[in-house]
Amino acid sequence: MTTCTDTLVATKANSPFPLDRWYLAALSKELTDKPIARTLLNHPIVLYRALDGQVNALQDRCCHRQLPLSMGTIEEGGLRCGYHGLLFDGQGKCLEVPGQQKVPRKAKVEPYLVIEQDDLVWMWFGSEQGSTPDKAPPSYAYHAHPDYVYDGGMFHYEAPYQLIHDNLLDLSHLGYVHLKTIGGDAKTHMNAEMLVETEGETVTVKRYMPNSTPPPTYIAAYPFKGKIDRWQEIEFCPSHLRIWTGGIDANSEQVTAPNRGGFHMRGLHCITPETEETSHYFWTIATNPKTDIENIKQKVVEQTRFTFNEDKVVIEAQHKSMQHFKGQPMIDIHVDTGANHARKIIKSLCETSS
Ligand code: FES
Ligand SMILES: [Fe+2]
Repeated sequence: MTTCTDTLVATKANSPFPLDRWYLAALSKELTDKPIARTLLNHPIVLYRALDGQVNALQDRCCHRQLPLSMGTIEEGGLRCGYHGLLFDGQGKCLEVPGQQKVPRKAKVEPYLVIEQDDLVWMWFGSEQGSTPDKAPPSYAYHAHPDYVYDGGMFHYEAPYQLIHDNLLDLSHLGYVHLKTIGGDAKTHMNAEMLVETEGETVTVKRYMPNSTPPPTYIAAYPFKGKIDRWQEIEFCPSHLRIWTGGIDANSEQVTAPNRGGFHMRGLHCITPETEETSHYFWTIATNPKTDIENIKQKVVEQTRFTFNEDKVVIEAQHKSMQHFKGQPMIDIHVDTGANHARKIIKSLCETSS
């Protein structure tokens, strides 16, 4: 784990997003030898991995003539602007002005607080200038769990972050959107009993589908004998969701047992708003093959990526339609309960932040 704990993020009042929390800024594997430009919660930010391995984040704006620092280069000591060569350290302090002895006192850029852990880079967004994190970033065990292997990626969405929450909290859409991978019979999905609970900022949605036909991804990854008992357990927090899905041979054991066997997919879904209308969707999928591990992992990851592309098409089209028909009434149905609870939590957190 690398940290830079002595920096604080600039914030703004009346945020349309819940503040005083960690949001995912990047997957560790994205930070290689080049800086990344990324807008998070309306803040243009440059993220980079320094030569000593430390991940740093600064406002993406040189204090000289405002070229985005993300157009610069990573060097010994920090990040060098790609226009006139000012060099900044990981805290945004200017270390060098080429051709000039004295570095002006005001030569600095705003740093952001980042912590890298579990192959993830989290960034703190406080509600006040100088606010200090009152909690550690969420930890995630399945990136280093002995029974699991994983990979993941990132999608940029032309849609607001809450439409992605809605999608993930309502997996009844699998039977209509994802028939080629993790779908299955639409009626089984729509008729599955759904248990929804809210506690504080967390919503859990659990669905069990006994005696189901295994969908293509499950068959590709696990030697099921025939019908399966499936589970979907979703845990929503405002900055991320953890989704545990899988299947066991039908009637072979209790589908709710904590140490159940069978085929497992553990998804981490971190949805970080870019703006009010666009989002970054970071995801990883961990699975538990016992044999042929690399091959099965690749299949599960590829099919998950394919599945999430299907969601992207639907959600971006939905967003366009919602913009066109803005203000038109929408109805609720039974599958919306979890998503509606999550929306209530975000609404109340935004009211608290403002
Ligand atoms: S704009 Fe960065 S050094 Fe001039
Ligand atoms: Fe989906």
